[in-house]
Amino acid sequence: MSFTSTLTRLTLGASLALGAFGSVQAANEDVKMGFIVKKPEQAWFINEQRAATELGEEMGFEVVRLAGEDGQQVLSAIDNLNSQGAQGFVICPPDVRLGPAIMNRANQYGMKVVTVDDRFVGSDGEPIEEVPHLGMSGYKIGQQVGEAIAAEMEARGWDPQEVAALRITNYELPTAKERTDGATDALLSWGFPEANILDAPQQNTDTSSAFSAASPVISKNGDFEHWVIYALNEESVLGGVRASEQYGLKAEDVIGVGINGSGAAFAEFSRENPTGFHGTVAVSSTMHGRQTAEDLYAWITEGEQPPANTETSGTLMTRDNWQEVRAELGL
Ligand code: GLA
Repeated sequence: MSFTSTLTRLTLGASLALGAFGSVQAANEDVKMGFIVKKPEQAWFINEQRAATELGEEMGFEVVRLAGEDGQQVLSAIDNLNSQGAQGFVICPPDVRLGPAIMNRANQYGMKVVTVDDRFVGSDGEPIEEVPHLGMSGYKIGQQVGEAIAAEMEARGWDPQEVAALRITNYELPTAKERTDGATDALLSWGFPEANILDAPQQNTDTSSAFSAASPVISKNGDFEHWVIYALNEESVLGGVRASEQYGLKAEDVIGVGINGSGAAFAEFSRENPTGFHGTVAVSSTMHGRQTAEDLYAWITEGEQPPANTETSGTLMTRDNWQEVRAELGL
């Protein structure tokens, strides 16, 4: 902790100690929590960590932002938090199957854990219910993606029989599967032909892994002139859109719809000319960051365990309304 922030905390503690709730508040000045994310360079996670930190500044607790890009890094982050005296952490794990190992380490130190975005699974492949979680309602948000794609195909007057759907999948991550399943079901119930859905399994959840997954699928299916693209998040849809451009497909021949509504989408919507990235279902990463930090804080200070599973919803954001939706969601 820096000298200035120590000073601020001492001043805050002293002034609170004079108030009616002096003794309770005095304990709070020591609250410190980690916020560990799997992809610290992604706009979604940058915003989530920023929002948690700001809440801490408002409420008088400290948030330590850490990267956990693999199991080793997560375990060192937990050791590091323990040596700094943190009482718990919020985490979006790099692999949900690390849940038991992460909980082992956290329990050794008596730390409280809340997951955000990606929920731990146990050795039985089921979610670890004892760890409170907040994340997207993956299937419903996926359906919104599928509906948005269908509406845009209709608007462009496309014949679905002649359209290929590039489904960039990640079946290792349950929320990712729920999202692409939701989108697929919405497309099928609208009348999209199942045989035209082409899978591109990605190794990761970022743009470059999606680009690598999408490229061979587009190249092998050059007969299709019209493409729709969906995935677990907008970073991956952008990877698919960049691959489509590489193969000479034009913006008007591609409808990509993502999920997140973060800086990656804002940058795309701000380009002078539209691209194949038609829209994204935006969810408030600000709310995800603030709410999980607030829940963990209440658990640490009042012993109140957060709800087992909180599911958040989304709003379609396109080039036409992105600034309004951004403001509405506090992004
Ligand atoms: C996963 C994805 C992220 C983001 C979050 C939101 O972690 O990899 O891009 O969509 O879910 O819950």
